[in-house]
Amino acid sequence: MTEYKELCALAIKAMERSYSPYSNFRVGAALLSASGKVYTGCNVENAAYGECICAERTAFVKAISEGEKEFVAIAIVGGKDGKISGICPPCGACRQVMNEFCPKDFDVLLAKDEFSFERFALSELLPCSFKF
Ligand code: THU
Repeated sequence: MTEYKELCALAIKAMERSYSPYSNFRVGAALLSASGKVYTGCNVENAAYGECICAERTAFVKAISEGEKEFVAIAIVGGKDGKISGICPPCGACRQVMNEFCPKDFDVLLAKDEFSFERFALSELLPCSFKF
């Protein structure tokens, strides 16, 4: 199984590909599927701001569209101009998308660098969630 620190390193690498000319806030994500494959994502912005896509959802859409159905963990990293100054917790929309595809104990890793991260269960980040 891919080590969680390795997953954080892949998220940092994915952040380099961020397309964020409007906010200059770069985000990268690396999603580990139960099959052992990693799907990376970055935020992709648009002049029509409402069409901006978060890094986490980029990774999920890539994975789901490749046929993945089960997920173990996601590493997330972000910062203004790509400089990491602390953890980058996922937005509410991304938490809800994780909730659609992941169990309550899905690991959300908020990376500070390649070597350190804070770990949360999805249920901690989205308690009392909507699902049917
Ligand atoms: N962003 C993400 O990629 N993930 C999040 O969970 C929060 C926000 C992006 C969207 C936008 O391109 C930039 O960060 C500033 O909001």
